[in-house]
Amino acid sequence: MRCDKTAAWHQLQLHAEGFAGFDLRTAFAADAQRAASLSQSAPHVFADLSKNHTDAATEALLIELARQTGLAAHRDAMFRGEAINHTEDRAVMHCLLRQPEGSLQGDLAKPLALVHATLQPMLAYAEQVRVDAQITDVVNMGIGGSDLGPQMAVLALQDFVVEGKRFHFVSNVDGHELAGVLKGLKAENTLFLIASKTFTTLETMTNARSALAWFKAQGGADVSRHFAALTTNVSAAAAFGITTTFGFWDWVGGRYSMWSAIGLPVAIAVGAQGFKDLLAGAHAMDQHFQHAPLESNLPVRLGLLDVWYRNFLNYTSRSIAPYHSALRRVPAYLQQLEMESNGKRVDRNGQALPYGTSPVLWGEPGTNGQHAYFQMLHQGTDIVPLEFIAVKKPTHSLKDHHELLLANVIAQAQALMLGKSDAGGHKHFTGNRPSTFLLLEELTPARLGALIALQEHRVFVSGSVWGINSFDQWGVELGKVLAKDIHARIVSGDASGLDASTAALLDRVRS
Ligand code: F6P
Repeated sequence: MRCDKTAAWHQLQLHAEGFAGFDLRTAFAADAQRAASLSQSAPHVFADLSKNHTDAATEALLIELARQTGLAAHRDAMFRGEAINHTEDRAVMHCLLRQPEGSLQGDLAKPLALVHATLQPMLAYAEQVRVDAQITDVVNMGIGGSDLGPQMAVLALQDFVVEGKRFHFVSNVDGHELAGVLKGLKAENTLFLIASKTFTTLETMTNARSALAWFKAQGGADVSRHFAALTTNVSAAAAFGITTTFGFWDWVGGRYSMWSAIGLPVAIAVGAQGFKDLLAGAHAMDQHFQHAPLESNLPVRLGLLDVWYRNFLNYTSRSIAPYHSALRRVPAYLQQLEMESNGKRVDRNGQALPYGTSPVLWGEPGTNGQHAYFQMLHQGTDIVPLEFIAVKKPTHSLKDHHELLLANVIAQAQALMLGKSDAGGHKHFTGNRPSTFLLLEELTPARLGALIALQEHRVFVSGSVWGINSFDQWGVELGKVLAKDIHARIVSGDASGLDASTAALLDRVRS
């Protein structure tokens, strides 16, 4: 049943009305157990949800909403490999990419065997590149899910990265990006990874063509040694002239693909064992999502909190604040994950929705954000729930830094909640501003894997309750089609039939 037609939705609406006066400070004062009961451990991740605008009654109603909208059945259908991405008639099986070898029977045994038969040569290749001293630079060319995941993970795991190799990520069709990277490279020392699920994406194909031309112009001859394709479209890669290929399947969504061959740069960076650890961490979170009771299921609790905030308290955005510089691409990664998955205006039957879906996601690493936009979070007119991500143990030995970093992240969560009274003037902080606190023991491949799988599943949960298809992305198509048309017009100068603004801009960039 669509969420807004359920009894739980109606009850949540009534509950939200009575919630108008909710105050975190009062809630903590009234309930000595609040911090404990709204905190939990999940594999590799500790979460404190207690500084959120929620309470036991809210959580109980949200769980009821999950029950009435069939969340568990939908989740199980995904894990069974049903074609829940119905607008593309595809299964959604990225979790299979991190499933241990031979651990499934029935229909999924075969695709799982294929996953491992593909993973092994990919990891062997990664190991081979790692010991190849001639290759000093690895350039990943991909965009969206073929860029954000591997880029985020290579950065996050920088302490585990093999010595003697530099990793570059070229995504934009803007030639400034590629030209800037090529400037510092030598053909004989460079490995280009052309990462594209479809092997048709304009940006990636344009960059790959230019990289190949540059490689040949530099005297490079051995394309099979210096170019590899990571794609489901092996024939298109072959037609392009790339024969070293690592494949995956249409049931891996682009933004869920870092666990597949798209993760090759990560595997080269952290090694076969590191990549396996990343998969194992994600798998541990998959198990938790699949089997933990809804009430103590962290992705379920987070996803339902997202629904509560979006639809009942009308908070339209969420800010991500990773307090670890190596996690600096996590906000960008999560933006695609959440907004490309859940930025939908129709339900699974194509009917327009009367309620909001994806929040706007944004953020920067702390403490940088504190000196930029945190002003608005503390004293602005909109309430923006924050999600802090902190890491307990540092990998450096610089004195004081990590204690100061941790002090800041804890203090920010505290300041948002407590506020400070100053007679309502400029120095007044209302407080009562919500935040979630995620804590990792250390930043390791396994823990990163669990953190990302947690985020994938919380997006599944809210998308499932909203009754949308979180696994297609038709909204990106129109711009692609129009860009083709405008490109032809930039070349020809033909402005016929264009609206006045577009025609004038065309004229301006051509003159
Ligand atoms: O345009 C959106 C999109 O399709 C994303 O979903 C995807 O991650 C990205 O483009 C890249 O696609 P591909 O891997 O096929 O090049």
